[in-house]
This record gives sequence, C-alpha cells and structure tokens, in this order.
Amino acid sequence: MSEADQLIDVLTSEEVEAIEAEIAHLPDRESAAMEALQIVQANRGWVSDASLSAIARLLGMSAAALDSIATFYNLIFRQPVGRHVIMTCDSVSCFVMGCEKVHKAIEESLGVSPGETTEDGRYTLLPIVCLGACDRAPVIMIDDELHGDVAVEDVPAILERYP
Ligand code: FES
Repeated sequence: MSEADQLIDVLTSEEVEAIEAEIAHLPDRESAAMEALQIVQANRGWVSDASLSAIARLLGMSAAALDSIATFYNLIFRQPVGRHVIMTCDSVSCFVMGCEKVHKAIEESLGVSPGETTEDGRYTLLPIVCLGACDRAPVIMIDDELHGDVAVEDVPAILERYP
C-alpha cells in the first residue's frame, strides 16, 4: 500500500464519502477544509495528527496548512476530549455579568481546571472567547447546546443533563 493510500486509509469510507460530497459543492477541494474537519470530529470526537494528515492528503493540501485552519477555529479539537465539551465564555459581556462565579462552580463541581478532562472522561472544560450570545450572558456551551443567563445555582442541573 502506498503512503497516500495508508493516509487515506486512516479515514473510514463513510468519512471519505461525506467529505467528497462536500467537495462536490465547492469550487476546489481545499475549500472543504472546515467541513472535512467537522465531519471527522463529529465521528471521532477530535482530530488526531493521523486524521489531519489523511484529510489534508484527501484535499490536496499540506497538513501544516490544514492544521492552521483547525487551530484558527477553536471548535476543532486537536487533542482527545471528554464525551461532552463545556465551553465557558470569558469575554467582556459574560465577565461583566459574573461568569467567573459560574466558571468556578463548574470547576469545583467537576474537580478540573480549564483545559482539563474529568477522570471519568465525561467532560472537558475549555475557555472560549465570545459565543455570540452576549445578550444572554453569562453563557456556556455544552457540545452544540448554548446555555444563557446561567446562574451558579443552575450549574448542577445543567451538568446533570449530560451523562
Ligand atoms: S461575551 Fe460571552 S457570549 Fe459574548
């Protein structure tokens, strides 16, 4: 098997098909970079170096160029994450509305600091810049669900919803 085949082999045939379907709508293969990263992340939870190289090869671009796209969009995870990813906004509106107390309550409840994953692999806690819902500050996002106007007292019930 050639090196190229081995890299492509890292991806499942379903992933390759889904990425090719995205490419079909776009002017060139590289334009599907973000969609391709999202497809693989949706399937695996994160994008490993091997996956990244395979996607880059499929798109006909360098792994370094694809990695810079993945790094720019902080919703692409380049390290393993827990079953659920909690993103805590610490930008201005959330800060003014007291997000620090909410973040502390989450950290204490989970026993982790920002950037860490709980020992049981249930949650990864990540700080993030503005989630674009400032009128509902303080805001957190768990997986793809936004929670606004979060009070410290709400934290246990919110976490409970993500087994
Ligand atoms: S500042 Fe937190 S959502 Fe905008």
